[in-house]
Amino acid sequence: MSILNGKKILLGVTGGIAAYKSATLVRLFIKSGAQVKVVITPSAKDFVTPLTLSTLSKHPVYSSFTNEEDDNAVWTNHVDLGLWADVFVIAPATANTLSKMANGICDNLLMATYLSAKCPVYFAPAMDLDMYKHKSTFNTFKKLKEFGNIVIPAATGELASGLVGKGRMAEPEDILHFVEQDMLGKLPLRGKKILITAGPTHEAIDPVRFIGNHSSGKMGFEIAKAAANFGAEVTLVSGPTHQSVAHSLIQVKAVVSAQNMYDEAHKHFESSDIAILSAAVADFKPKEIATQKIKKKTDTLTLELDKTKDILASLGAIKKKQYLVGFALETNNELENAKGKLKRKNLNLIVLNSLNDKGAGFKTDTNKVTFIDNKNTITEFQLKSKAEVALDLINKIILEIDA
Ligand code: CTP
Repeated sequence: MSILNGKKILLGVTGGIAAYKSATLVRLFIKSGAQVKVVITPSAKDFVTPLTLSTLSKHPVYSSFTNEEDDNAVWTNHVDLGLWADVFVIAPATANTLSKMANGICDNLLMATYLSAKCPVYFAPAMDLDMYKHKSTFNTFKKLKEFGNIVIPAATGELASGLVGKGRMAEPEDILHFVEQDMLGKLPLRGKKILITAGPTHEAIDPVRFIGNHSSGKMGFEIAKAAANFGAEVTLVSGPTHQSVAHSLIQVKAVVSAQNMYDEAHKHFESSDIAILSAAVADFKPKEIATQKIKKKTDTLTLELDKTKDILASLGAIKKKQYLVGFALETNNELENAKGKLKRKNLNLIVLNSLNDKGAGFKTDTNKVTFIDNKNTITEFQLKSKAEVALDLINKIILEIDA
């Protein structure tokens, strides 16, 4: 999944020959899962039609402060447009527009939107090679970089003038790749490896039966998604669940039993920076697994159970640099029990959920949690969706590892 999935991209198109490539760029952004709106300068309309861009972007194309063809003209709110965007990409960006951007000249809707936008601004210059090399252009770029705008480097090749050199707008595929990589590189968990356990475990009794629990795995999968969206490389060790995830930064390792989960978690722990153990691991497993299906020959059946290994405690015992997070599902004396687990298992943070809270725990889409860290800071949250709880947790970890 692209980092642009779900993002709102405002594409600014200015009047250069490369404007015809903006149609491909809209397609690529849409394909990566983004919503796209287009703002275009009057002269760009000589190179690409607003109809093409509105059809591809599925939104009206904005080009003037009012709708000129309409008697009841409506003002186009450039502030709203600027605030709507998560990212503003100006491609192609002509020397004229770039110079206006550097000097705050506001003579069209695109410029007014640029001056109103609070999001990151990327620009893909497109001009002839002598214009590109001119000292004035150099100064413009310098100024724009000082403003925090990001240059998508021009390519070298044949130019509209027939000359060959630097100044061609980067190809749409390269613009997409550049924006994705740049955004990924700025994510707070970029370069961090996170191990997450999720779901229940199944402890076999015989070839057809097992001891399990009601965990849906949803909490762990939401945590994995939140961590990956912040740039972390996630290894998600999951017991049997119906959850699925498709994200380029998440690797799912499917396991069945507590022992499988223990082995897989240990395989990845040493190289991890953070480990979050949200799985509902079975505490006991049958001492013997029958090789044949157990027949109901007797009125009662007694199974002898052995304790499983506590994965969290075993990682706490060997942890070095890792930030280790556990969960505690409690029914009584919640805070004290959770604090006890935090200490006993050598954790940095424990997430407490109480089965006494309506909407918390297994199978629901919501959870109500309290964070307790090893400095005894206690943060209690309202009932939230599991996706929001996951975000709160990842934000807390980012604050802690940065501190
Ligand atoms: N856990 C684990 N391995 C186990 C059991 C639990 O890694 N064999 C982890 C869970 O993933 C969770 C935490 O330990 O992060 C707490 O699990 P919980 O069942 O609440 O606590 P227990 O330590 O098993 O204690 P008890 O059942 O006695 O409350």
